[in-house]
Amino acid sequence: MPTIKEILNTMDYGPAPESQKEAQAWLEQHARTFGLFIDNAWSAPGELFASTNPADASKLADLTQATGDDVDRAVEAARRAQPGWQALGGHGRARVLYALARLLQKHSRLFAVLETLDNGKTIRETRDIDMPLAARHFYYHAGWAQLQAEEFADYRAVGVVGQIVPWNFPLLMLSWKIAPALAAGNTVVFKPAEFTSLTAMLFAEICVQAGVPAGVVNIVTGDGRVGEAIVNHPGIDKLAFTGSTEVGRLIRVATAGSGKKLSLELGGKSPFIVFEDADLDAAVEGLVDSIWFNQGQVCCAGSRLLVQESVEEKFLAKLRARMDKLTLGSPLDKSIDIGALVDPVQQQRIAGLVESARAEGCTVYQSACELPANGSWFPPTLITGASTSAAVAQAEIFGPVLVAMSFRTPPEAVQLANNTVYGLAACVWSENISLALDVAPQIKAGVVWINTANQFDAACGFGGYRESGYGREGGREGMYEYMTALSEDARPDAPLVEAKAKPKAAVVVASGDPFAIDRTAKLYVGGKQARPDSGYSRAIHGASGAFIGEVGEGSRKDIRNAVEAAHKAGGWAKATSHNRAQVLYYIAENLAARADEFAARIAAMTGSKNAEKEVQASIERLFYYAAWADKYDGQVHQPPTHGITVALNEPVGVIGIVCPNEAPLLGFISLVAPAIALGNRVVVVPSEAHPFSATDLYQVLDTSDLPDGVVNIITGSADELARTLATHSDIDAVWRHDGSADGCAEVERLSAGSLKRTWVGGAKGRDWYSTAQSGGRAVLAHATQVKNVWIPYGV
Ligand code: NAI
Repeated sequence: MPTIKEILNTMDYGPAPESQKEAQAWLEQHARTFGLFIDNAWSAPGELFASTNPADASKLADLTQATGDDVDRAVEAARRAQPGWQALGGHGRARVLYALARLLQKHSRLFAVLETLDNGKTIRETRDIDMPLAARHFYYHAGWAQLQAEEFADYRAVGVVGQIVPWNFPLLMLSWKIAPALAAGNTVVFKPAEFTSLTAMLFAEICVQAGVPAGVVNIVTGDGRVGEAIVNHPGIDKLAFTGSTEVGRLIRVATAGSGKKLSLELGGKSPFIVFEDADLDAAVEGLVDSIWFNQGQVCCAGSRLLVQESVEEKFLAKLRARMDKLTLGSPLDKSIDIGALVDPVQQQRIAGLVESARAEGCTVYQSACELPANGSWFPPTLITGASTSAAVAQAEIFGPVLVAMSFRTPPEAVQLANNTVYGLAACVWSENISLALDVAPQIKAGVVWINTANQFDAACGFGGYRESGYGREGGREGMYEYMTALSEDARPDAPLVEAKAKPKAAVVVASGDPFAIDRTAKLYVGGKQARPDSGYSRAIHGASGAFIGEVGEGSRKDIRNAVEAAHKAGGWAKATSHNRAQVLYYIAENLAARADEFAARIAAMTGSKNAEKEVQASIERLFYYAAWADKYDGQVHQPPTHGITVALNEPVGVIGIVCPNEAPLLGFISLVAPAIALGNRVVVVPSEAHPFSATDLYQVLDTSDLPDGVVNIITGSADELARTLATHSDIDAVWRHDGSADGCAEVERLSAGSLKRTWVGGAKGRDWYSTAQSGGRAVLAHATQVKNVWIPYGV
């Protein structure tokens, strides 16, 4: 008698097609031609481009390529509508968002079928994943709108937001973008991807039904040129982009110095780690969800399998067997696993990468499935034998292609997992919870799924580390991306005290009398005083113009040494927050013991009558961040799944800091203390005009139990050193606060190379004495990045 397994193996499902009648009728109602949705009205269609069904290459509709004038009109409508939308209040906005959620649910099948026709993804995914999650985003953010006045009392809406999304989750990405923006009181100019705009057109219709006021949501269609027009528009206050790392970089460069707030959700090459003690069958299912969900066209796809050597053969055999069971075909068929790729251009790109792997001698295994004659298709593919540096192991393939490698030990797994420029997501499979929870924090990624894969929820932030971008979508952290702290509005237009005696590149070779004791302050690298590599010093003059002393002229090489020292001090990130707090208190105590000396030095440098006050404020600020060190906790989210999601506030890594010239001690402490309190290591360029407050700190730091390399100080030209910091590939973030508008713009521009996070003050000043302007959660958020670790129960 055959076993149940054998019977199941012989069973086949007949076709179970979902009807496309309603969706086709809706397209007909619009004569298959769409204008733009601006100010709650449809414009007459303009220059048209076709939207096709990638599963059979049939044309679905024509869409309008928006012009620069159209984008102007959309931004103007959004600007006009914004004050009214904000004034509607949290409850008023909550009602509208709630209505949108309800309407999405009410029309969910129409949306799902339309999405499947337009994108090629299976109806199972659009119906069971995209639609419920899209509705959930509007419900969840209706809640934040309702609570905004209470929970975000110190914030306001940013204003007019430009939003650009890709084609892989058209409606879901729309929801991730529009729901939080509207909840916070912003109005939006939204651009869907040119391959997949139809569900955005349907969404525009339900906006009118839901009572979204005119101008609050504007939707412009077209290709990258429309995206560029939005990015460069002076009327846009914030940009939110999801798409390729390449375009993300262009947007970072284009917006540098503009003051536009920016969040980028970019590419990935996420590891899927299987330890030998994992439930291998469950891990295979997880992997199917991870890399073959949406044909692998997922930014967080688990595209790199890292499997422990001892189970590698066994696991790959199970995987190949499972691959052969995946069904590929009409996306509207409810029993189909793998649908069509979005466009032939993607099919060609993926095929090219797989061929390159074959040419390099890799083994390529593809599912035994037949590809339909028309449309763009690619079979589930497994590549083994690739080197870690092979293109297929490093590049985002964005298709149903898995690259498998093996490891021997947990440290090797972590090392391989982090061997990528990206850092979006990771999966860890092990039945040993303590191993899984030990590995999760070591992986440089914004999301880690333990014994599960590709879970999303509006309550849990999603976003990347490193070249996967910055900013989070979802959760409380996602709301901050759409708000501005009121304390930013309170900042003075220019630095409160203009730095006097800004040196005119006064580099000196020697200081006069050859027998005088040399009082040139050196640099501080790896806990030791170091001579500048340049062999030059610069003269520093006090407020009265008199020469006070010399400091080392730091250069590119000194920054390199400092970054190396900072990386060696990685243990600081793992030190307990209690321990870090103790060190900050100790620095404060040692500074207090020498308060008079520091005050005298500040007075000599700046002529300040308040030098004593500045020293006391610096001591207090150290206490302030020591207090925060063990209180800036993460959160535990409770998404509607059986489990929890732990949002950890992790340090950013190595931060380059350019300090203000005003309040040279307090400014320095106000930037360095929050960074190190939360586990970062810093390379600091102190005030160019008044550097001695920083160089005098060397002894204070030496006697405060601060591990070597946590704080490194390089004196010299702020512009030159900032340039080096912004282009250094091993620096994770750069902060610049010396009031130089051009310098800040340059930091933002140069940071695009490795997509560093930046926090720049621009030309405006900051009251360094005010905790509201120079402290609080907004500063702590700059010093951290949130990692969401998903831990399901009972799996
Ligand atoms: P893309 O990044 O070019 O397009 C994403 C969106 O940006 C689209 O709406 C597009 O019109 C717009 N855009 C294009 N150029 C722009 C510009 N200069 N300024 C402003 N907006 C612009 O991605 P594309 O070409 O659709 O896909 C190419 C590759 O990018 C994929 O194969 C994949 O590797 C990667 N990708 C990654 C995504 C992710 O979520 N991580 C999403 C889409 C693509």
